[in-house]
Amino acid sequence: MITKLITEKDGEKGLDEAARLLKDGELVAIPTETVYGLAANALDGNAVKNIFVAKGRPQDNPLIVHIAEIDEILPLVKNFDERARALAEAYWPGPLTMILPKSDIIPTEVCAGLDTVAIRMPSHPIAHEIIKKCGFPLAAPSANTSGKPSPTTAAHVMNDMDGKIAAVVDGGSSVGVESTVVTLACPVPRVLRPGGVTPDQLRAVLGEVEIDKAVFKALESGEKVLSPGMKYKHYSPNAHVIIVKGDFDKFASLVAEPRSERTCAVCFDGEEDKISVPAYPYGHADSPEEQARELFDVLRHVDDEKMELAFVRFPSLDGVGMAVYNRLLRAAGFEVIEL
Ligand code: TXA
Ligand code: MG
Repeated sequence: MITKLITEKDGEKGLDEAARLLKDGELVAIPTETVYGLAANALDGNAVKNIFVAKGRPQDNPLIVHIAEIDEILPLVKNFDERARALAEAYWPGPLTMILPKSDIIPTEVCAGLDTVAIRMPSHPIAHEIIKKCGFPLAAPSANTSGKPSPTTAAHVMNDMDGKIAAVVDGGSSVGVESTVVTLACPVPRVLRPGGVTPDQLRAVLGEVEIDKAVFKALESGEKVLSPGMKYKHYSPNAHVIIVKGDFDKFASLVAEPRSERTCAVCFDGEEDKISVPAYPYGHADSPEEQARELFDVLRHVDDEKMELAFVRFPSLDGVGMAVYNRLLRAAGFEVIEL
């Protein structure tokens, strides 16, 4: 299959073509404000099955359904209760996914057999336009090969999906980490994956909110998870990744110790010249937003440079920083050194 790259130059016609392909049951990667999504008609179980094939995604990992207007959630869930409506009004469109008991029109492929469905309303204007033109919701996981870092540019998507899907719509680069996933399908709302909407922002609307323990901790074998995505080693470059907690001088000495030539450092902006191995910055030390934006691109770069070992500076934990740390922990298989 030839994968068509639709760019800004194609204008309205390009978006019409993306919508036509989706109506024909094809897969199209679309930009969102978080990461690129690999979209199919969420109401067409056969189209959705192909997403799992293209990504090499485990069958038991459910997908997020994307809508363009708040009321489009109504036919998709059993009960759009007050808590859910308040959250939607506060943070949609934006990087927030909510899980609710599903209605019967959601095909089992989308929710991997669970009785709940994850819904999000993205704020990216191109995603919004394409959903509008389709007239149906789009099921879309991140548009990477399963296990690789999520794509934040059309080039990342092409790297993983060229020849496997009908088209990629280029919408520039995205803000970085995937959406916050919160489940409302339990008495106390619970964050299953941190993202751009922080726990404090959720608490401002919902009151009590729990953070699932799988956010910061490896699962014991056989342990049950609420979100199947948390079982898998995610966001993982080929290189062995180690997170290093401690000040810059100790970090620089650690990475300078003699070992494989293919060792690198993932540091903060301005530190790269003071490190004796190849060093790739992922934003300023005090900017969680920059770290979120750069993280996946840097992890992909580590692999492009065929690095075998990457020491990563411990991220800022403020705001979206919790999401950055959660993704890094998975990339590192939870390996953290404290100096
Ligand atoms: O920002 C994002 O959320 C991006 C863009 C494309 O929207 N999408 C994304 O999708 O990150 P994906 O498939 O890579 O991650 C979805 C996560 C997975 O961890 C999955 O297990 C969880 O959401 N999930 C989806 N449906 C669920 C459900 N019904 N119950 C529990 N977890 C669910
Ligand atoms: Mg993903």
